[in-house]
Amino acid sequence: ATTELQRHFERTIEHDQRIEPRDWMPEGYRKTMIRQISQHAHSEIIGMQPEGHWITRAPSLRRKAILLAKVQDEAGHGLYLYSAAETLGAERTDLTDRLISGAQKYSSIFNYPALTFADVGVIGWLVDGAAICNQVPLCRSSYGPYARAMIRICKEESFHQRQGFELLLTMMRGTSAQRDMVQEATNRWWWPALMMFGPPDADSPNTAQSMAWKVKRHTNDELRQRFVDMSVPQADALGVTLPDPWLAWNAERGHYDFGELDWAEFKQVLAGNGPCNADRIAHRRAARDNGAWVREAAAAYAAKHAEGQGR
Ligand code: 3HC
Repeated sequence: ATTELQRHFERTIEHDQRIEPRDWMPEGYRKTMIRQISQHAHSEIIGMQPEGHWITRAPSLRRKAILLAKVQDEAGHGLYLYSAAETLGAERTDLTDRLISGAQKYSSIFNYPALTFADVGVIGWLVDGAAICNQVPLCRSSYGPYARAMIRICKEESFHQRQGFELLLTMMRGTSAQRDMVQEATNRWWWPALMMFGPPDADSPNTAQSMAWKVKRHTNDELRQRFVDMSVPQADALGVTLPDPWLAWNAERGHYDFGELDWAEFKQVLAGNGPCNADRIAHRRAARDNGAWVREAAAAYAAKHAEGQGR
């Protein structure tokens, strides 16, 4: 029977159709989907922190309202994705514990500090820009609930990217101090944004299987290249210089050549030794522990309520 189920699973993938929660799936598929979806969710939730600190310090009511909406969106993206992981049998509290204990990862990018308000613009422009580059293909991921979550997330993400670019354009038309602030933030975020796409393909243990199961539609290096090609003209339009002396158009390849990433730094950040890893996790641990009484009260109320209805 399993071979028939296996063949049905493979045919579904082959014909670019969706695997749904109640379909039979190989344990490895379930495992890798829980891994990718829950770490994606963790990234969204941790991603609220760098910008969250700027909500109370935004320079105008308009900027504060935009930032508030964006950070709330990220929380919503996290919740959709935790719900998608739950359709595979994962428990949300368990996933939160794994994030806090370091047993599960979140995107390296959020371990860098947002030092000035220009960082808010650069995060929108480059970090959300990279996230869109990575997430648009995931709208065609083979696991139904994940692909559908991506469709809504990508729509909101494009607002995030546009507000960041518009913020930077405004600052670039401001004083020279504001222009310097934008350039300085770009210098700090460019290379970490390229690392969001993951290790080089030759050093990516999950890519081959994820491509075979159409979880991923492109490899890490393909999407990184697509992001570089997209970002260079945007940097020119802004009037900022990307901090890579090797960046140059290669007419033969039809792509921009760019310098080597600092993979030692990447590995350090993934090992928990980035500039902000400890803060990000401490913040999350406090949120979990300080919120425990709310969860207990809600559970007690639900149990009492259920009794009351004699269920
Ligand atoms: N940060 C942290 N960990 C990373 C990483 C990064 N930038 N890139 C790779 N890794 C981890 C992988 O998770 C894997 O570890 P694991 O096996 O314990 O999960 C290991 O490094 C090897 O990497 P692989 O390339 O083999 O792993 P994947 O095939 O899973 O590729 C990925 C990594 C490209 C991030 C892929 O998981 C993916 O596309 N995930 C969904 C997208 C996502 O998570 N985006 C986060 C962006 S931030 C965000 O969305 C918020 C936005 O609103 C700003």
